[in-house]
Amino acid sequence: MRKKVSIIGAGNVGATLGQLLAIFEISDVVLYDIIQDMPQGKALDISQMLNIFNSDSKVIGTNDYKDIEGSDIVVITAGAARKPGMSREELLSFNAGIIKEVSNNIAKYCDSNKCIVIVVSNPLDAMTYLTYKVLSNYGFTRNKVMGMAGVLDSSRFVHFISEKLNVSKNNINAFVLGSHGDTMVPSVKYTTVAGVSLENLLNSQDLDNLIQRTRKGGAEIVSLLKNSSAYYAPAASTFKMIKSIIFDKKEILPVSVYVNGEYGYKDIVIGLPVVLGKDGVEKVIEFNLTENEKKELDISANKISELSKELYNLKVLV
Ligand code: APR
Repeated sequence: MRKKVSIIGAGNVGATLGQLLAIFEISDVVLYDIIQDMPQGKALDISQMLNIFNSDSKVIGTNDYKDIEGSDIVVITAGAARKPGMSREELLSFNAGIIKEVSNNIAKYCDSNKCIVIVVSNPLDAMTYLTYKVLSNYGFTRNKVMGMAGVLDSSRFVHFISEKLNVSKNNINAFVLGSHGDTMVPSVKYTTVAGVSLENLLNSQDLDNLIQRTRKGGAEIVSLLKNSSAYYAPAASTFKMIKSIIFDKKEILPVSVYVNGEYGYKDIVIGLPVVLGKDGVEKVIEFNLTENEKKELDISANKISELSKELYNLKVLV
């Protein structure tokens, strides 16, 4: 039986992800949105494309949470996207209310023993923290609630490295850790090109340029698109995580997870390397970071912690 993936928010990221899952016949797909008729329209359009790809995935659109019942995976992309000049943080108070409502509905209709939740809505670290806090009241364990950020940020880093070195992306393995924001930590030590660490391949000025461009990767696209934020690469990155879970691939990927002492952090959600398999985050891997990388990760963790505390100030969490 095909797995069931429900996507909350059938906007740019949600619909693009649904399309990928259906084309590659990874799962059946439920597209949920608050806008009447829109998810039904997109689901019908995607369904009418699938015979061209020989896919038998079933795609439905809905405005009724009941349809997500029994999901193996729920992806949260609901909320507003960033506008030019707007930080992910400014989205916090607006999206927090939406995420809380979505999380309560996931708790109502999905089985905490079975369902894995992936958060995509920004600000990612805080929204994943909020989702975990709500769902943990209903028996969801921390391995089952995670955020998508590191795979996307790493993919952006790979793209810039491949352009700079003029080599295939297939030879590049990148790790971007920490926050999904300006304090993200692209690890130079653990980013390799054909097995060779990036620190041995580029001078510090070039490295710094690539890192800065990666950190601003989302904002660069927002400033070009003007009225929306990136969605092809975010959808593809979520797709990669879903495949690793559904097929129990146990890929080591940078994923935003709720930490309980790993890397010395507690009670925050932060991007770290994990093993992603059928049980979700099956293991957090403790890389031996350089002194500088650890310092940068500490800065990132502090920033995340401050933002997550805002959720209590805003009384979204008590
Ligand atoms: N419940 C369900 N869906 C909602 C709700 C809600 N309460 N509120 C808004 N939505 C829907 C919107 O109707 C819209 O269709 O969420 C969808 C968001 O889609 P887009 O505006 O196209 O945004 P998108 O580019 O997909 O980004 C979604 O992911 O990358 C992040 O920063 C981005 O937080 C944003 C999210």
